[in-house]
Amino acid sequence: MENTENDQNDHEKETKNDTPAEANGVEEEEEDELSKEIMARHFRPSIIKTEAWEGYMFAGLEIRIKESTDLYGAMLWPSAMVLCHFLDTHREAHNLEDKNIIELGAGTGLVTIVTSLLGAKVTSTDLPEILGNLQYNVNRNTRGRCRHPPLVTELSWGKDLEKRFPRASCHFDYIMAADVVYAHPFLNELMETFEHLCQDNTVILWAMRFRLDPENSFVGRFQKLFHLEELYNLPGLKIKLYSATRRCPRSQHLDTT
Ligand SMILES: C[S@@+](CC[C@H](N)C(=O)[O-])C[C@H]1O[C@@H](n2cnc3c(N)ncnc32)[C@H](O)[C@@H]1O
Repeated sequence: MENTENDQNDHEKETKNDTPAEANGVEEEEEDELSKEIMARHFRPSIIKTEAWEGYMFAGLEIRIKESTDLYGAMLWPSAMVLCHFLDTHREAHNLEDKNIIELGAGTGLVTIVTSLLGAKVTSTDLPEILGNLQYNVNRNTRGRCRHPPLVTELSWGKDLEKRFPRASCHFDYIMAADVVYAHPFLNELMETFEHLCQDNTVILWAMRFRLDPENSFVGRFQKLFHLEELYNLPGLKIKLYSATRRCPRSQHLDTT
């Protein structure tokens, strides 16, 4: 899962090419400050009790997340915090109240929890083996705290998409995804899932942690299907936050499924 020096250098070159050195310095400082602000939302309990948890502050509330170290999906990745920070600090531009949201690869559930606390109707998805811990975290942090209880359900990328999420009846205002692109063999299926779920007016908010070239090239392939806008660039964390919409309206698409 680790990045190489070269990847990081390329990534930095890509983002700084045409910027004067002085401006780069100011931008870097601002990016560092933003990264620090995001990471400061995490805390550990002062007294360790029988159950281990990590704390996060979002939507004005304390959120307790139980992780497990044996599965990627049972750990919380910094991209999730980046996405939650953006949502928490852009509540007017992205008012989530009563919006339909689906999260892909929800993991420990932070994004699902924060979007639910911000008023959305959330469908939280991941692989079957992740759902127990995800459901536990979602229940403990949303029960009695949000107007729409989130739904936790399986979505294995590319599998039974039309059967489980029919295009005619599933309309999502937002698709959320944090750190779903890394060295796994399902990148094509992930792309297919974005394509299937994204309607003409759906906004994808996707936090991407840059690691190795083969996975990083997913961004270029993604751009062929979706308009991409960079919302955050945090080189210190190797994370970018994007918003995306369909390039080709579904209505102009010859649907063969
Ligand atoms: C690096 S973790 C990120 C978890 C969470 N979004 C976060 O940022 O903390 C990647 C997530 O993608 C999920 N995932 C991996 N392959 C998948 C697949 N084929 N179908 C559905 N989810 C998958 C994993 O189970 C895991 O929850």
